[in-house]
Amino acid sequence: MKRLNSQLQQDGAQLELILLIRTLLAACKEISFRVSQGALAGVLGSTLSENVQGETQKKLDVISNQIIKDTLCESGYVKAMSSEEEEHVVPCDPDGKYLVSFDPLDGSSNTEINSLIGTIFSIFHAPQWMEPGDPSAFVQPGTQMVAAAYVLYGPSTMLAMTTGRGTHLYTLDKTHGGFLLTQANIQLPQQTAEYAINASNQRHWDTPMQRYVSELVAGKEGPRKKDYNMRWVAAMVGDIHRVLCRGGIFMYPADKRNPEQTGKLRLLYEANPMAFLIEQAGGKASTGERRIMEVVPTDIHQRVPVIMGSSEEVDYCLSCYEETKA
Ligand code: F6P
Ligand code: MN
Repeated sequence: MKRLNSQLQQDGAQLELILLIRTLLAACKEISFRVSQGALAGVLGSTLSENVQGETQKKLDVISNQIIKDTLCESGYVKAMSSEEEEHVVPCDPDGKYLVSFDPLDGSSNTEINSLIGTIFSIFHAPQWMEPGDPSAFVQPGTQMVAAAYVLYGPSTMLAMTTGRGTHLYTLDKTHGGFLLTQANIQLPQQTAEYAINASNQRHWDTPMQRYVSELVAGKEGPRKKDYNMRWVAAMVGDIHRVLCRGGIFMYPADKRNPEQTGKLRLLYEANPMAFLIEQAGGKASTGERRIMEVVPTDIHQRVPVIMGSSEEVDYCLSCYEETKA
């Protein structure tokens, strides 16, 4: 089986980018080990603090964030990073060529039930003018990403990665510690009969989403004339992995309870990297109003509504948004 290195080389990635990715993945392998130790290592449960997003931090959120931060800062490849768990940009090496944004442990409430969790990251070029602590370099649209990936800590540890030449799936071979290519160039089916949304929030969704989901729920008897199935892992990384593997549509729409906070998911740490992976696999990713990767962030912790997955299904959902505008 092909190793990660050869696939990255074949995709034309520069040497320094390959070395940065390998460094990041070394951190993820350590997280994978810590996560698998679970209660044996006393790493489960919450800390007494909240992150900048107002969420209670799990011990594993803090541990994973520290592992990635330490590894990246020592590497010399990174000028600065931003993390879901850090209030401010973390300055690193003034000569570093790259910026990294990451969600160290997505879906961390799943640690309590030994269910799917993962690390999500994206890599951008660091502008030369940039001072390492300057947040303004992070407000680049997702179209500028040079790489995006997630590592899924499940029954096997898997990596989905793109450098803009397709999305490839790798599996960690724990016998020698390397990621091996297990599916090259995955392609999402354009159509699907599976959707993912937290339906308990239905009464707070905007009108187009209410209409769209009511049509899915109506099944064969409704306007879509087919039955749909629903899945919700409650970790974006798990839901998007399923969508990449067999198609589907994943949604986290805006919520009327908090009009200033447009949606739950973070643009830099969740929406952008997943959008890049989905688009490179032939799918679509939108906020309902525009392509996620074209959103120009105004803040590193900005949130956006998310609609992504199989292209025809996303298009149909977006047509509901169009009709409401008209
Ligand atoms: O990081 C946010 C997150 O945990 C995502 O991974 C996941 O998709 C979502 O929140 C789950 O939200 P909810 O708590 O509404 O199910
Ligand atoms: Mn997350």
